[in-house]
Amino acid sequence: MTIPDITIAIDGYSSTGKSSFAKLLARRFGFTYLDSGAMYRGVTLFAQEEGLINRRNMVDPSLEQALKDLDLHFDANNRTYMGDRCIEHLIRSLEVAAQVSPIAAIPYVRNYVDDRLHAFAKGGRVVMDGRDIGTTVFPDAELKIFMTASEEVRARRRYDEMVAKGEHPVFEEVVKNLRERDYIDSHRETSPLVRAADAFELDNSEMSLDQEIAWVQGLIQGKFSIL
Ligand code: CDP
Repeated sequence: MTIPDITIAIDGYSSTGKSSFAKLLARRFGFTYLDSGAMYRGVTLFAQEEGLINRRNMVDPSLEQALKDLDLHFDANNRTYMGDRCIEHLIRSLEVAAQVSPIAAIPYVRNYVDDRLHAFAKGGRVVMDGRDIGTTVFPDAELKIFMTASEEVRARRRYDEMVAKGEHPVFEEVVKNLRERDYIDSHRETSPLVRAADAFELDNSEMSLDQEIAWVQGLIQGKFSIL
């Protein structure tokens, strides 16, 4: 099946499996995958390393100026870099997860990330995942998907992911972090997480990745009248 030159926007709450789905989709369709959450995580790691955010999530206003020189980008394998340092592993820690949502609620941080995402997406044929891709970053995306899954399934996925990486998470803490981030993400003033009116909802609580791909292929065939 030939996929047209479209932009695919995938949004949803934490751990709904957006990035696994988006990555596989990109590989199968020959698209570029862009992980917007990794950018917010990268800014959070930067603020932590520079001592610009305290334990109570108070952010030093000098972060705004410091972002002007911050070079966050991806390599060909979707790994996140800060300058020439690979930070892929560091940004997935619970420490970063604990502070990323307050950082992502700051308007100048959102502008910084949006500018970078637009620059990375210049070539087209892009699949991007996040919280506000279909509503704010690419409101004209030709295909928008809003992913959901039950809280139990989401927490279990995140927990298993961390265990697989050799970490020792406490299940209740993982649940707490998901709930806190979901709350902040959907209640913030600047581009909160909401389902775009023209997004198709995908509840993947009981679906395999292959079933998800088959679902989206059906959707694309119908929407773009492909035989
Ligand atoms: O991996 P998970 O789905 O839990 O989160 P992520 O996609 O890595 O995003 C981490 C955090 O960045 C989210 O909890 C949001 O606070 C923020 N984010 C955002 O505000 N807007 C986006 N487009 C993507 C992420």
